[in-house]
Amino acid sequence: MTASLLIRGGRVIDPAGGRDGPADVLIVDGRIAEVGAVRDGPAEVIDASGCVVCPGLIDMHVHLREPGNEEKETIATGTAAAVAGGFTTVCCMPNTNPPLDQESAIEFIYRQAARSAKCRVYPIGALTKGRAGKELAEIGTMIRAGAVAFSDDGCGVANSAVMFRALQYVSMFDKPVIQHCEDPELAAGGCMNAGVTATRLGLTGIPSIAEEVMLQRDLLLTAQTSARYHAAHVSTAGSVTLIREAKRRGVRVTAEVTPHHLLLTEACCAEFDTHAKVNPPLRTEADVDACRRAVADGTIDCLVTDHAPHASDEKSLEFQDAPFGIIGLETAVPLTLEVLVESGLLDWPRWVACWTANPARVLGLPRGTLSPGAEADVTVIDPAAEWTYDVEKSCSRSRNSPFHGRTLRGRAVATIVGGQVGFRLA
Ligand code: DOR
Repeated sequence: MTASLLIRGGRVIDPAGGRDGPADVLIVDGRIAEVGAVRDGPAEVIDASGCVVCPGLIDMHVHLREPGNEEKETIATGTAAAVAGGFTTVCCMPNTNPPLDQESAIEFIYRQAARSAKCRVYPIGALTKGRAGKELAEIGTMIRAGAVAFSDDGCGVANSAVMFRALQYVSMFDKPVIQHCEDPELAAGGCMNAGVTATRLGLTGIPSIAEEVMLQRDLLLTAQTSARYHAAHVSTAGSVTLIREAKRRGVRVTAEVTPHHLLLTEACCAEFDTHAKVNPPLRTEADVDACRRAVADGTIDCLVTDHAPHASDEKSLEFQDAPFGIIGLETAVPLTLEVLVESGLLDWPRWVACWTANPARVLGLPRGTLSPGAEADVTVIDPAAEWTYDVEKSCSRSRNSPFHGRTLRGRAVATIVGGQVGFRLA
């Protein structure tokens, strides 16, 4: 007896396989068996009429807070939010407590995920010991344990010699180095974008140049190696220009952007709303516009949430004392559809690629496709579904979203992980 599931009557978009059109998707024993006109059989049926059916979405930048800050999120609650948002794979950042900077920590993530995760979880290892930016972490053994990339996310690696060595070393394994581009001295004490709003509020700013100076240095270093470099959460027009030009020169660089950097500006901080406090900070209209265009022209390859849960009591502190971060797994699909697809900047297949084939390529994951034989990770999206985001109903353990109460269009209605229905909208 084979377990099977038939997703019938949707618009199947699989950029990796070059497919976009009406089709059924048959899943047998956890794998894609057939895509096309499938005759009804003994399978359980999901009616996808009016919906887009695509490879399971991949979010290559989330914070799951396990180990160490389980009061903010756990692998169980973070992945519950992920499947509710349409994600079948998430990559978790190593700024946990303790950080994911050795083999046993990577093994811990896989063990906990096997026990409690609702979707696939791939850990990203720290680039340096303790994320202190001084000595390389145990990269080789972390790769053996399954780390898919390396980053000190939350901090940029400031020391150029350490960064150069990291790029050279990681390139031997053909894994990407993901940099949180932020010069610590230029950003010191800052809590929002440097500019008129920060001055008016009396808050210390983080200038665009803090991001761009590190990015520019890294692009020069990367060009001297065979490394693959990935710029995390790009936020400025200047960064976009640097990446665009480096790609033209043939530097092996890829980049990502978050929904909030595509939609919100520093103006959201004007009432000292800590839900708009994020790192890198929300910037200006011109930066937002440049980031949107960068996705449209392929300068930015991937969309990510940078889901960063924080406890309400911390987010209730004074603006300068509250932690940086926004949760985003449940709102990413409609927000990025609104800003990129409804606006006409991207067509559906390219939007799907930004959430599937592109991150799979950056990370070298065997995912992001509906090819027959592939493990059946599938997301079904109703593009017309209108709903209001109520953060109190979030599956995440945290509530720090600036999008609470916003009316959204488009929603994952079914999320299938390895042929199992991980989420189904009631
Ligand atoms: O806003 C952010 N929050 N940016 C980061 O880089 C880290 C993250 C966190 O871990 O809270």
